[in-house]
Amino acid sequence: MRWGVILCLAALPNALWASEPVALPPDAFPTPDSALVTLGRDLFYDPILSGNQNIACATCHHPTLGTSDGLSLGLGEGGSGLGTAREVLDGQMPRARIPRNAPALWNVGAKEYVVMFHDGRVMLDPDAPLGIRMPEGRELPAPVSSALAAQVILPLLSPEEMAGIAGENPVADRVAKEEIKGENGAWALIAERVAAIPSYQERFERIVKRAPEITDIGEALAAFIQFEFRAANSPWDQYLAGESAALEPAAQRGALLFFGEAECGSCHSGAFFTDHGFHAIGIPQIGPGKAKAAGLPSYADIGRQAITGDSEDRYRFHTPSLRMVGLTAPYGHSGAYPTLESVVRHHLAPLESLMTYDRAQALLPAVGLGDDWGAMNDQEELLNIAEAIELPSRDLSDAAVADIVAFLNALTDKKAAKGRLGIPENVPSGLAVDR
Ligand code: HEC
Ligand code: HEC
Repeated sequence: MRWGVILCLAALPNALWASEPVALPPDAFPTPDSALVTLGRDLFYDPILSGNQNIACATCHHPTLGTSDGLSLGLGEGGSGLGTAREVLDGQMPRARIPRNAPALWNVGAKEYVVMFHDGRVMLDPDAPLGIRMPEGRELPAPVSSALAAQVILPLLSPEEMAGIAGENPVADRVAKEEIKGENGAWALIAERVAAIPSYQERFERIVKRAPEITDIGEALAAFIQFEFRAANSPWDQYLAGESAALEPAAQRGALLFFGEAECGSCHSGAFFTDHGFHAIGIPQIGPGKAKAAGLPSYADIGRQAITGDSEDRYRFHTPSLRMVGLTAPYGHSGAYPTLESVVRHHLAPLESLMTYDRAQALLPAVGLGDDWGAMNDQEELLNIAEAIELPSRDLSDAAVADIVAFLNALTDKKAAKGRLGIPENVPSGLAVDR
């Protein structure tokens, strides 16, 4: 592997590297138990995990939509259909849009992924209880093997994503009363629902030797994601392994720019093109808002600062991986940009791009759910976002931008995109599977 890298780098003319390309190490991924993987697959596609049994993980992380939902901000529980065709079910109006873009799940199962969510509110931390930081009131009830296995038990509790609204179902009722852990908590209730289905009960008995607990469900979902959503063999990987013809000339020029003059690799670093860190790059803010700070309007989203309390972290968001990025539009934590070209151009002139953002680019299901443009209509909030930007502007020709986009598209593993196990025909609950 190392030799391949060195050979190929030597083949690139006059490379002046601001940062270094890194090949994927052969042991980048864990090898989950196959019985746990297939169990996790069923759970991932099964609406049984949602309070009103009308939405699955796959609804927002669908393989036909690059393991995301194809929307800037999605519609959670109460909706029906996938992607831009998603609409509201009769009498089940969701209360709000999901406040952030659904990230793709490619490679989040790799060993080096220890930070989850756009703001990193779940992460490995030796000082946290059981070694993983969780949001307040959502601490882990038992140890789990990865940050991913901890993350996946949280969407179940979100009223807008999967739980539903108090009065609609017992899970939502308990969430509304903040009864999460313990025998009568929302997590236990969800695990009981799963255990009540014989096929799930039998398989968990075989693997963990008891009725499933919520953390077992988390481990199964994580095992599936680790196995299914691996994207490790793109033209770029083949190129690094010594096949110089694998990368078309435009993508080769794009690679030189990416790691060189355009300095993309300073944040999108390493084998997965992320430093797993947080940066403020001024992506336009859309929708109901998320992490608020004292004195800020509800439609704001200050990102990482809401987790650390550190003013340095204001409007910082997690650096996304760029593997498979050609399949995962729209882009940014709010999904503001629908194309690779538009989000790359944003990076080159972040302030101007924020201030002149064309709202027609946002992909939002046409459902009246309050004002989506509070932040963008608020000059003060716009200036707050602008002031935090830490990305320098950069002059690149149109041809250079096209080359960078060609390089980004060469990070797609086309075979992985088809899936390994794929979408199940049906799931043990008998509920409908999104296809
Ligand atoms: C209604 C849509 C929706 C549903 C349903 C949903 N998610 Fe997500 N998921 C999101 C959004 C939005 C985020 C980002 C939230 C944030 O960062 O604040 C996310 C984040 C994640 C992440 C973190 C990825 C990363 O790069 O940090 C993982 C893993 C994940 N979801 C897995 C799941 C699993 C497993 C399920 C089912 C138990 C699920 N999701 C259900 C929308 C959804
Ligand atoms: C200062 C660190 C930094 C640098 C330098 C940087 N990026 Fe980013 N990039 C980010 C962050 C942070 C985000 C996500 C921002 C958000 O969600 O609000 C991002 C988002 C993206 C996305 C959207 C990915 C997605 O899944 O939403 C693409 C594509 C991208 N960057 C490409 C590039 C390219 C190409 C360059 C070089 C021209 C570059 N980046 C330079 C930090 C950086």
